[in-house]
Amino acid sequence: MLPGVLIRRARPADVPGIITLFAAVAEERDSIGTEPGFDVAKRQSSILKSIDEAASCVLVAAVKDVVVGNLGIQAQHRQTLGSLGMMIAREHRGQGIGGRLLDDSLHWARESGLHKVDLGVWPHNTAAIALYRSRGFTVEGRLRRHFRRANGELWDIVTMGLILDTQSPGSSYPDAENL
Ligand SMILES: CC(C)(COP(=O)(O)OP(=O)(O)OC[C@H]1O[C@@H](n2cnc3c(N)ncnc32)[C@H](O)[C@@H]1OP(=O)(O)O)[C@@H](O)C(=O)NCCC(=O)NCCS
Repeated sequence: MLPGVLIRRARPADVPGIITLFAAVAEERDSIGTEPGFDVAKRQSSILKSIDEAASCVLVAAVKDVVVGNLGIQAQHRQTLGSLGMMIAREHRGQGIGGRLLDDSLHWARESGLHKVDLGVWPHNTAAIALYRSRGFTVEGRLRRHFRRANGELWDIVTMGLILDTQSPGSSYPDAENL
């Protein structure tokens, strides 16, 4: 399956390749939040920091050390909630790479004791929504006219989550009415 594609933890040497992938997918303008013109130095240092942190998981899909896919789960400060983002190079989509990255990252999340993984996705991103649903994520909400794009449009974000800890008690306070 997927000969030549290696899924592994990212190393500092992968950061330029991750940035190149980010820039290419950002150019598409319709799938990830980042748009062209992002702050490369800031992004580089945040990826490097995540690679170093035990509370984060940065994976790459690599073909002969060329990064063709990237997934990151970042645990929120002092929380066991991880936020996920991912992307595959256009020419490598539909070959099972995203599914493998996601499976490996969820294995890490379970082993690391995260209670939940969440993410935001554009409502039109049917490929990503289908992938997340196939791994058990459910839609939790829709943030309306939430995110301003470079062209001035205000896009909704669909929030999805995968609950890993089903044993801890939920809130003991009753919900307010009419929520
Ligand atoms: C979304 C994305 C990560 C999927 O990665 P991928 O490697 O193409 O996905 P896979 O080939 O592993 O497919 C896994 C599952 O995803 C779903 N899927 C993938 N592409 C799909 C498509 N074009 N239409 C519908 N479902 C699709 C299917 O459920 C598929 O399962 P199957 O193999 O049983 O059919 C990839 O399309 C991508 O990088 N897109 C641009 C960036 C992006 O949208 N990132 C997510 C932002 S929230």
